[in-house]
Amino acid sequence: MSTRPTRNRQFRLASRPEGKVQRSNFDAVDGDVPSPGAGQLLVRTKYLSLDPTNRVWMQDIEQYLPPVQIGEVMRGVGLGEVIESQHPDFKAGDLVIGMVGWQEVAVLDGGGPNKPTRLPPGLPFPEPAFLGALGVTGITAYFGLLELGKPKAGETVVVSAAAGAVGSVAGQIAKLQGCRVVGIAGSADKCAWLTGELGFDAAICYRDADWKEQLRAACPEGIDVDFENVGGDIMSTVLAGMNLHGRVVLCGLISGYNTGKRMLGPFDTVLMKRLTVSGFIILDYAPRFMEAVMQLGQWMMQGKLRHADTIVDGLDAAPEALNMLFDGGNRGKLLVRVAVSQ
Ligand SMILES: NC(=O)c1ccc[n+]([C@@H]2O[C@H](COP(=O)([O-])OP(=O)(O)OC[C@H]3O[C@@H](n4cnc5c(N)ncnc54)[C@H](OP(=O)(O)O)[C@@H]3O)[C@@H](O)[C@H]2O)c1
Repeated sequence: MSTRPTRNRQFRLASRPEGKVQRSNFDAVDGDVPSPGAGQLLVRTKYLSLDPTNRVWMQDIEQYLPPVQIGEVMRGVGLGEVIESQHPDFKAGDLVIGMVGWQEVAVLDGGGPNKPTRLPPGLPFPEPAFLGALGVTGITAYFGLLELGKPKAGETVVVSAAAGAVGSVAGQIAKLQGCRVVGIAGSADKCAWLTGELGFDAAICYRDADWKEQLRAACPEGIDVDFENVGGDIMSTVLAGMNLHGRVVLCGLISGYNTGKRMLGPFDTVLMKRLTVSGFIILDYAPRFMEAVMQLGQWMMQGKLRHADTIVDGLDAAPEALNMLFDGGNRGKLLVRVAVSQ
């Protein structure tokens, strides 16, 4: 069990980024370690999840949560250990997932809508998996693909950002449904990993000059489901190859997050092909998260689902590391291992 840290390093939003995130967009502040009040917990962050949505939260634009305000601790999901508890449902030593923020220790409410999730002890999975294949990104892939994509055996599913946290799980789940699965990713190495280790039927590197022809050749029966993570030219190209009445799972539009440009695909194609386009935010499925985690965990235990991660060391690395999501530096789930000063 951890001893109580003597300092709390926090990253507070100092300015809104333009383009890539810069270290100067944050103030690093070393403060005192707070004490939890009644009903609260003191949590030491072990792993911080870096997500494309962090970049969106930094913008003062309309979105699904309020933007992070200048001067606030940067919002972020993490896995941490309870150091002190003033709530009957938690005790010191428990591992929890919650909105810890970009800081070494956090005070969280033990109840209410944002209460952290306590991990049952003794689960046979590495801790980072609870922020990846068994965490929000895995759950996003699960509900997005199965509830909105509705894939049937024999259909063709295309996944963009396929070697990332959500995409790698979505593609593996589509394989488990008996689909032909084609991934789109940014390097030959990632494509080799998708086909060689994750069982994708084909993977296309969108940096190849002839990637659109490669995609067409990889989908000889047309595309039934687009699990869309990227938007822009990639989305337009996939939509052009879709079959009538295909389903588009609009999970993310990462190609526009740094520029603020709208990266939606062509709506004339949606009309002509009578496509169903379903936007979703995983928070809407919060009451059903456990259902997804149980199934994902079972697949992992059976060796049918693989978790992959890219781990960066130290909270100080978080601002620069966030850019890995935009230049393709990560494979699987991107995390920061947070070392706490004593
Ligand atoms: N709707 C929801 O509730 C929900 C929840 C979680 C995530 N998401 C969305 O899901 C998507 C994936 O998120 P994630 O956390 O799993 O991230 P991720 O896929 O692990 O990382 C992002 C990946 O996107 C690719 N990428 C970045 N910019 C690109 C561009 N301009 N063109 C093509 N590819 C680009 C990069 O891989 P390459 O090397 O292949 O370029 C990068 O590794 C994001 O759009 C995110 O916003 C949505």
